[in-house]
Amino acid sequence: MTDDRITARARDIAERESATLVERTPASGALFERAVRSMPEGVASTFQANDPYPIYLREGRGSRVWDVDGTEYVDFHGGFGTMVVGHAHPKVAEAIERAARSGTHFAVTTEITVAFAEELCRRFRLDQVRLANSGTEATMSAIRLARAVTGRDTVLKIEGSYHGHHDTVMFSVVPNSDLMGGRDTPSSVPLSRGIPQDTARHTEVVAFNDAGALERVLDDHGSEIACLIMEPLMMNIGIVMPDDGYLQAVRELCTRHGVILIFDEVKSGATVAPGGAAERFGVFPDLSCFAKAIGGGTPIAAFGGRAEVMAEIPRGAAHMGTFNGNPLACAAGLAALTEVLTPDAYEHLAKLGTILAEGCQRAIAEHSIPAHAVDLGAKGCVSYRPEPMRNYRDFLEANVELFAASWPWMVNRGIFMTPGDEEQWTISVQHSEDDIQRYIDAFGELCEALAG
Ligand SMILES: Cc1ncc(COP(=O)(O)O)c(C=O)c1O
Repeated sequence: MTDDRITARARDIAERESATLVERTPASGALFERAVRSMPEGVASTFQANDPYPIYLREGRGSRVWDVDGTEYVDFHGGFGTMVVGHAHPKVAEAIERAARSGTHFAVTTEITVAFAEELCRRFRLDQVRLANSGTEATMSAIRLARAVTGRDTVLKIEGSYHGHHDTVMFSVVPNSDLMGGRDTPSSVPLSRGIPQDTARHTEVVAFNDAGALERVLDDHGSEIACLIMEPLMMNIGIVMPDDGYLQAVRELCTRHGVILIFDEVKSGATVAPGGAAERFGVFPDLSCFAKAIGGGTPIAAFGGRAEVMAEIPRGAAHMGTFNGNPLACAAGLAALTEVLTPDAYEHLAKLGTILAEGCQRAIAEHSIPAHAVDLGAKGCVSYRPEPMRNYRDFLEANVELFAASWPWMVNRGIFMTPGDEEQWTISVQHSEDDIQRYIDAFGELCEALAG
């Protein structure tokens, strides 16, 4: 079976399944026509847009979601990795109801906010935290703090990483191959129009899994660099694991050059291990950023770390926000972290994750599909590249036709997935082995169809 024949079949499948998707989602089509009048692309955030229109959801319970046409799906989208607790979890719903009855907002710190901060410090081994409302705010504030502590302006980030949509980090997120520069000297390529050109001067990029490249940059002008912000494992181009020893080398190099190491655990925190990627890999940064799963499905985020670094906030590194520490979101987050995402829950997630990844890998091998499956607790993915990736440049080697076929195929078979090759599945504590089997069956049929 040549890859060319698989690719040709993938193209046919994508065309057929996309047509079926449109036929069976008329209510989403109609809501799109309405939504596009009040919101560009008919969505609240560009990440929610899709071609020809997104599938609009009506509700979610447990491991299931229902679209506006009334079709039920097993949810593996998980709100981009937020819903590890599953939908409408009784403990989280109860906490939100209780909080709603005692006042939803004061812009004054409440006891529940303090308890949530304490739990974050305990779980992620942080001296102190501050709260925010989104991952974007958390990384923005952590970077300002790093700049304040070091008195340096330049931010170093990893090529192919997303850290939110504030200007400093909107460089080389998914750079086009003709603009990204050489492997050893990657360019800073803006992701958006509207970012002052000057900003590029303060954001440099370096490849993941290349401690030698980092060492060269730091030896050359480390004294100008405030921080290195990175995901300890890349989770916005599928999943890229750190090589053995890479994170340890990064830690050592940052310490040597007085560069603040920031781990962006917006996706990995509370999903890949109870204490996030830092716990999983045993490497601890100076500052960490969290969002998504820590809020049990409500908009809350945090950044925190070493006491000496956090001490710069009262000394004048500004960090503000009307909704920071909102009691409703803190109540949901506290219930999620202390009552739902318990050690037993992580065992359940790990077990299901392994069954899912192994099931997909078996189908890939049986039908010789140029892909591989990644297993990472609540998170995992099928990546349409024969070998595991080591950095962003490997991500560009994808067979894009295969992903284009897989998304409508899975959704048409009751598996709700993120509409992007850069995303992963999210399993919740409310998923069952039957839910996982449905994914494996649908994916196995896809592999069979691709193989002919
Ligand atoms: C690693 C990472 N950092 C930061 C963000 C930004 O978070 P938010 O969308 O809550 O602003 C994201 C969002 O997907 C992310 O994946």
